[in-house]
Amino acid sequence: MIIAIDGPAGSGKSTVAKTLAKHLGIRYLDTGAMYRALTWKAMQHNVNLDDENALCRIMEQTQIYFESEEKGLQVFVDGRNVTKEIRSPSVTNNTHHISGKPGVRAMLVNLQRKIASKGNTVAEGRDIGTVVFPQAEKKFFLDARIEIRAKRRFRERETPDNENSLDSVIREIALRDQRDTTRKDSPLKISDDSIYIDTTNLTLNEVIHRIIKEVNPLIKNK
Ligand code: DC
Repeated sequence: MIIAIDGPAGSGKSTVAKTLAKHLGIRYLDTGAMYRALTWKAMQHNVNLDDENALCRIMEQTQIYFESEEKGLQVFVDGRNVTKEIRSPSVTNNTHHISGKPGVRAMLVNLQRKIASKGNTVAEGRDIGTVVFPQAEKKFFLDARIEIRAKRRFRERETPDNENSLDSVIREIALRDQRDTTRKDSPLKISDDSIYIDTTNLTLNEVIHRIIKEVNPLIKNK
């Protein structure tokens, strides 16, 4: 069984996907972390981020995997725990180079399918219901007004200073939205068969309740 959760940055999909996977006792697959992990490795190796062939070559030589620990999902690249590093602003700002290259996406999508083939999975990202797992049993698209999404991201930052003013976070998120929705390969979009949830005025608990109500019949039928 696959449950797909897609949506833009700050829509709440990571928290919701994690909580749902825990509730159901099944795997949580954070596909954004995989794009981030490869971005981190390419930056470490000074790979030209515009060179698709070089990025594919580095992906061939890279092992990206997850381990579920008490403190949360840990992300590894070639045996090194990079969970913190992949959330740095420089990685965040460079992921679009990786996610915009079809050859690299194809390799990451293969890996995502391989990981999920091991058992029931809640997978989150941008193209989960449309491209990676079009056959998913349930698909959700989470969204929220950009000001609210930016506020959520702003609050998550450890040292909100002037450089990280709310306005600059809004601009950052708007740029990511634009890149995610307009790229040629696998853009962020709502599939016809996904359930759209606007989380602008909902608490995390309300979103989870809504999703569990949709997912429970699946569990009972299994
Ligand atoms: O969800 P996130 O912010 O961790 O994702 C990091 C980047 O990876 C984001 O800019 C979009 C991209 N991404 C993607 O293109 N496809 C996915 N399935 C997941 C993330």
